[in-house]
Amino acid sequence: MNLKGRSFLTLKDFTPDEIMYLIDLAAELKAKKKSGITGESLKGKNIALIFEKPSTRTRCAFTVACIDEGGHPEYLGKDDIQLGHKESIEDTARVLGRMFDGIEFRGFKHETVEKLASYSGVPVWNGLTDTYHPTQILADFLTLKEQFGTLSGLHLVYAGDGRNNMANSLMIGSSKLGLHFTILAPKVLWPEDSLVATCKTYAQESGGSITFSEDLDAVKGADAIYTDVWCSMGEEALASERVALLKPYQVNQQLMDKTGKPETIFLHCLPAVKGNEITEDVFEKHADVIFDEAENRMHTIKAVMVATLGK
Ligand code: CP
Ligand code: NVA
Repeated sequence: MNLKGRSFLTLKDFTPDEIMYLIDLAAELKAKKKSGITGESLKGKNIALIFEKPSTRTRCAFTVACIDEGGHPEYLGKDDIQLGHKESIEDTARVLGRMFDGIEFRGFKHETVEKLASYSGVPVWNGLTDTYHPTQILADFLTLKEQFGTLSGLHLVYAGDGRNNMANSLMIGSSKLGLHFTILAPKVLWPEDSLVATCKTYAQESGGSITFSEDLDAVKGADAIYTDVWCSMGEEALASERVALLKPYQVNQQLMDKTGKPETIFLHCLPAVKGNEITEDVFEKHADVIFDEAENRMHTIKAVMVATLGK
């Protein structure tokens, strides 16, 4: 599998085999690191980490992964560079492309990361936009694979804000890899029709499925229940409206019990707002897997950089 020179903006751009390759490479790199072996795949490479929005996991994962492989990461926060205010995105992209070998971007508009990729001439990796969060899905799926040994055929239910970056990206990843994916959310928060139509074509090819429901019984038989914050970064003004809309979709023990399966696992991309989308007791009961998932951000992000830029 050769992904050299490719950007990683959304899972839509990758085939199921390419996505599986990245997940398997992450598992390999994780096993290596656990046995004390780090690599030199990014030796001599300089990596820009642009953050318009804050981050704990993504920033730390890119930094540690880069250094583990011998590269140099440079953090560029929102007040450090002129991106999009004093200088056009196209110009900043061309400057960074002359100095750096790869660029990570986290921010608001998905269009910004697309422009960085078009103009910089180096691989660009999406560390979250308003629309997609593709590196998170690799970590989620590595965690599911560690728990179940397989991905295809698993029933994954996402409860909560069904049209945010996480819901969109989980729907793309699940439909590409043959999972049965359900969005449990009020209709006003279901994803855009055009993305649903695209994902339905992926699911047809993979043997997976996508369903939408407002009925809590949709969790019946779920192998995993996933949730995310009700109010994403940049949407703070909508907080009280969202709480009112999403309160019935909180992941609590009653909802977990509705799966009818005591072995159902719970996943969360974090950070979590306990008492909103998830209760503290369910969170703590599933903490080991949730923090495996957080750790897996590092191994999967390492896989993306090694595959697209490494020697
Ligand atoms: N899950 C995730 O992206 O976390 P951060 O916002 O801390 O990077
Ligand atoms: N939907 C969340 C994900 C955080 C990792 C947000 O965009 O804030």
